[in-house]
Amino acid sequence: MSAVVVVGLGWGDEGKGKIVDAIAAERGARLVLRFNGGPNAGHTVVPGVDLHSLPAGTAPPPWHDRVFRLHQVPSGIFTPGCTSICGPGTVIDPDGFLAELAEVAELGGDTSTILLSDRAHVVLQAHRDRDRLLEAARHATSPSLEQGTTKRGVGPCYEDRAAHIGLRLGDLLDGAYLDEYLPFFAAEQSRRLGAYGGAPIDARALRDQCDQWADALRHRIVDSFLLVRDALARNDTIILEGQLGVGRDVDWGIYPYVTSSGTTAGSAAAGTGVPVTAIREVIGVAKAFSTSVGSGPFVTEVHGAEAMRFREAGGSETEHEYGVTTGRPRRCGWFDAVATRQAAQINGCTGIALTKVDALDGFDEVKIATSYDQGGKSIDYVPSNTRAIGQLSPVYELFPGWSGGTRDVQVWSELPYTARVYADAVQNACGVPVAYAGTGPTRLAMAPRHS
Ligand code: IMP
Ligand code: MG
Repeated sequence: MSAVVVVGLGWGDEGKGKIVDAIAAERGARLVLRFNGGPNAGHTVVPGVDLHSLPAGTAPPPWHDRVFRLHQVPSGIFTPGCTSICGPGTVIDPDGFLAELAEVAELGGDTSTILLSDRAHVVLQAHRDRDRLLEAARHATSPSLEQGTTKRGVGPCYEDRAAHIGLRLGDLLDGAYLDEYLPFFAAEQSRRLGAYGGAPIDARALRDQCDQWADALRHRIVDSFLLVRDALARNDTIILEGQLGVGRDVDWGIYPYVTSSGTTAGSAAAGTGVPVTAIREVIGVAKAFSTSVGSGPFVTEVHGAEAMRFREAGGSETEHEYGVTTGRPRRCGWFDAVATRQAAQINGCTGIALTKVDALDGFDEVKIATSYDQGGKSIDYVPSNTRAIGQLSPVYELFPGWSGGTRDVQVWSELPYTARVYADAVQNACGVPVAYAGTGPTRLAMAPRHS
C-alpha cells in the first residue's frame, strides 16, 4: 500500500497543485483524491512535458504548454492512467464544476477521468448567499470581524453537512428521496437565508436544478470507497490532495479566520477513506516565502514595496501572487519557520516540497523567522489564541541571497550554493528534510534533493 498525502503547511496557495501533478506523473499514480474543500480552491497547474523524453515521431499531449487554473478538479488529470476523484470530504458546486470541465477540455485536458464521490455535498446558490450575507453582517458589526472568505458558499455548505441537513451528490440520483426531502430542505435553507434577509428558496425550481445536475453528472458520481479499496488491494500509488494549509485549518488554523474543513494528513484519511495506516508519506508543501489571502494575523507580513517584490516576482503573470479564485492580491512575508515547523509536526511530514525558490532569485539577503517575540519572551510555537498571534513579532535569521538563477534548475547540485544553504536552513528550522525545491511553474521545474 502506498498512499502519499500532499498538504499545505502555510495559509494556502503553497503550490500543492503543481506538486501533486509532478509527483503523480513521477510515480505513475493511479488515483488522485481531493480530500477537502471545494470551489474556494485555486490551483495553478502547468503540466509541461519533457519533449526530449517523447519517442521519436510522438506528438506531445495538447495540454503540454498550457496553464490550467483548477478549482474543484483534482491535479491528477495530466497523469496518464490516473483517475481523479473529488472525495467524500469535499463540497461541490455543480455549475462551477461543469464550467471548469468545459475550460479544461477547451485547453486540451482530458476530463473523462474525473469522478465525484456520491458522499460529497452539494454547494447551492443559497450557500453562496449566506456566505456573502454573513460576511456583510460581520463587517457591519466591525470590519475586523470580516473573515475574507472566498464567498463561494463553502462555510455554509459544511455547516449544513455538520448539522446533517445537507444534500449529497448521490442524493441527486435518487428522485424518490428528493421528492420527500426537498420540501424540508428548501424550507430549512429559506429559514437560514431569511435570518440574514435573503429571499426564500423555491422547492420546485430547486428540484428542476437537481434533475439537470443529475443528468449532467450521473456518469461521474460514484461510491469512491470501491475504487479506493481496489486500488489499495492492487498496491497502486494513491495521492491524497489537500486544499489550503494548516494556517486555515478549522482545528489548527487562526480561528475564526479559517476554512470549514480539515487541511491536514489526518483529514486526508477521513476525507477519502484511505486508512491512516496506508499512508506512507506526507509531503508538506511550503512556499519559500509566506503568503495569505483573507483576514487574520500574519506574523512575518511585509507591506508596500517590500510586499510587491514578493508578489510580482517570477517571469510571468501566472506566477504573481493574486488569488486564483478571487483575484485578490495575496498578503506576503518572509518564511515563517515557527508556523511551518508546527504544521509539519501536526501533519507528521516525511518531506517538504519548498516551492517558488526561484522567486527569491536576486534578493541580496533572505530571512527566516525561527522564533517569535511575545512581549520580550521568546516562543517557538503558534499560540492557540489568535489575538495573541497578532501581538507577536518575528525573530529572523538572515542568510545571503543568490545572484545566480535557480529558474528551471532540475538538479539539486546545480542550485546556487547560497540557495542550498537557504533550503538547509528551512530543513533545520522545520526538522523535516526538504525533498524538492520548486524552481518555476511547470511540472519539470523542480529539483529533487537526491538528484
Ligand atoms: P472560505 O474557505 O471561502 O470559507 O474562506 C475561509 C478563509 O480561507 C479565507 O481567509 C479565505 O481567503 C481562505 N481561503 C479559502 N480558500 C483558499 C484558497 O484556495 N487559497 C487561499 N486562501 C483560501
Ligand atoms: Mg490556491
